[in-house]
Amino acid sequence: MFLTRRHRPRLQSVLKQEVTPSRNIHRRWGGRGGSRRRHGVYTLHPRIPGMIDLRSDTVTTPSEAMRSAAGGAEVGDDVYEEDPTVEALEQEVASLLGFEDALFVPTGTMGNQIAVRTHTDRGEEILLDRESHIYKWELGGAAQLSGVQPRTLDGGPRGLPSPTQLASGFVEEDLHRPGTGLVTLENTHNSRGGIALAPDRFTETAAAAQNLGVPVHLDGARLFNAAVAHNADPQTYTEAVDSVLVCLSKGLGAPVGSVLAGSQAFIKRARRTRKLFGGGMRQVGIIAAPGRIALENIDRLATDHENARELATGLRTLPGISVNEPETNIVLVDTSDAGLSAEAFLSRAAEAGVLGTEFGPQTVRLCTHRDVDAGDIQTTIDRIKTVVA
Ligand SMILES: Cc1ncc(COP(=O)(O)O)c(C=O)c1O
Repeated sequence: MFLTRRHRPRLQSVLKQEVTPSRNIHRRWGGRGGSRRRHGVYTLHPRIPGMIDLRSDTVTTPSEAMRSAAGGAEVGDDVYEEDPTVEALEQEVASLLGFEDALFVPTGTMGNQIAVRTHTDRGEEILLDRESHIYKWELGGAAQLSGVQPRTLDGGPRGLPSPTQLASGFVEEDLHRPGTGLVTLENTHNSRGGIALAPDRFTETAAAAQNLGVPVHLDGARLFNAAVAHNADPQTYTEAVDSVLVCLSKGLGAPVGSVLAGSQAFIKRARRTRKLFGGGMRQVGIIAAPGRIALENIDRLATDHENARELATGLRTLPGISVNEPETNIVLVDTSDAGLSAEAFLSRAAEAGVLGTEFGPQTVRLCTHRDVDAGDIQTTIDRIKTVVA
């Protein structure tokens, strides 16, 4: 959080107080006493003791092992490709995903946008689901940074366009038409509620793109959640695509970092694009080291999935809300039958001590992660009971 001189004394006095969310929430949270809602996301200023934060799986704090790995990391200048910790991380991820090479990037967004730019030429079209993160949540970066024209397809409730849709969206380059330069797919699918695409359906669509002669990039920010949900090797997905982006700072719990993987030739070009986008970093082993530890957390994603199922089961017993059947760590709550907007629901939930994210006018996303356990899930259900009562 950026603190101006004006805010600093107030924050310090707030930090000194030991408060319970129910008594003091209005002063520091939500609608009354100064809104903290920015760009559709409720932000926490500062952390409130006892608050259960289910806004995202990005809110986790690094483990002690991650903090000490950061402190002791062997480092070098990574723009000169001299950082051994970054190189080790890149090689680990490349081999985990079955690719020749990989590139460490600060964020999932940058990794996706580097992929779009590296795969395409200006003016080309890219084909993607209309609810995909690359299209919907990355500030139109494909248009801004790569000069490509998105052609969206309706991938339906699972966010996966069919081979037929790809074929009809495909544009052959000629004197008048720009040509399709890239297909992007997403797994798990965030906006569709953490949908974990099955390997056979996923590879069918990826193969259809490749049959059209178009490269495929996979936004696999939560690919490991999909693999765990289907008890599948992540390579059953990645062998069907040309590049993949995975995030270390979501369910895996690293404080920062994502990795883009692909062929050696692709990563060589992607490295230049990363520099162009301002992502060439120096002694960055210090943040790659926690990322290496995060890779040990893949199997424990099953716990987040179990917690999400428990949460959905508990919430379904409450009046006025309907809930999806979570396939991974994302629970979508429809607030319409309670006569509440998502905003009103979230404001009341915050007062009761639970944070979530607005995903639509009457849709709320609750995301489980490694900083919440089964006890927190039960407490969440009890607190939300008071929201809809
Ligand atoms: C599917 C998907 N892709 C990409 C991103 C972007 O990741 P980052 O927030 O690290 O830029 C997100 C973030 O939530 C995501 O859900």
